[in-house]
Amino acid sequence: MSERPRAGELPAELLGLAREAADRAGRLLREGRPADLGVAATKSSPIDIVTEMDVAAEKLITGFLSDRRPDDAVLGEEGGTSEGSSGVRWIVDPLDGTVNYLYGLPQWAVSIAAELDGELVAGVIAAPMRGETYWAVRGGGAHRLAAGASAPEPMRSRPVPPLDQALIATGFNYVAATRAAQAAVAHRLIPLVRDIRRSGSAAIDLADVAGGRLDGYYERGLAPWDLAAGDLIAREAGLLTGGRPGTPPGPDLTVAAPPGLFAPLQTLLEDFGAWHD
Ligand code: IPD
Ligand code: CA
Ligand code: CA
Ligand code: CA
Repeated sequence: MSERPRAGELPAELLGLAREAADRAGRLLREGRPADLGVAATKSSPIDIVTEMDVAAEKLITGFLSDRRPDDAVLGEEGGTSEGSSGVRWIVDPLDGTVNYLYGLPQWAVSIAAELDGELVAGVIAAPMRGETYWAVRGGGAHRLAAGASAPEPMRSRPVPPLDQALIATGFNYVAATRAAQAAVAHRLIPLVRDIRRSGSAAIDLADVAGGRLDGYYERGLAPWDLAAGDLIAREAGLLTGGRPGTPPGPDLTVAAPPGLFAPLQTLLEDFGAWHD
């Protein structure tokens, strides 16, 4: 078993490893994308796709992490899941925004988070086509590093607008019945807000709320790998995150917004029954 560093040191070590792994995977995805990239497999539905690059990026990340910390557990979207004994669990989305990546759209990211004894302590989202990386360590705030910048800058949400002037992002999952219900919620929400965005990467949506490029975000049907790093980054940037009222963010619902906007948005989504078909 690996020896545990003193409290406070381990999250920083985990963050460093996550940044290195996300950087390497981001480079592989950016530089190694085949011109004739196709769909290698499908999962929950014909539009829930996996490419060879999702699998290659996850292999790179899990190989890097298990080489450095062989006693940690891993939960990876593409099956790179293993048990551990150290109390640390890595949560890995090797390519968030696979559909964008397939089409050559730039909104995709690598998302890696670390939990210690079940609590998120470090998270990194690398968005290589933006030349930006976002990260947070528990209690240490959230930071953005732009390519070429000499130092990272703290991430902060925008001043809170009234709901009718809020720019809200959302997403749709891959199952037809759920998508129809999600579209019905968006149909009711859009007349009540400034506008709705659908980027195709939940990790980038969460980073953008944390960094003040969006006012709020909600989505139903997220998996732990979609939201773990973004949840920590958003909270460390001063936002509130949650699910259905009184619950943490999860598959039923994920909401992220600054205090002042979070409750009105969550209440509206509750009125709309955002987690029901
Ligand atoms: C998806 C993206 C998308 C969201 C979906 C996710 P993937 O992740 O984050 O924005 O709407 O719910 O599954 O499959 O590209 O890693
Ligand atoms: Ca996927
Ligand atoms: Ca994802
Ligand atoms: Ca993915």
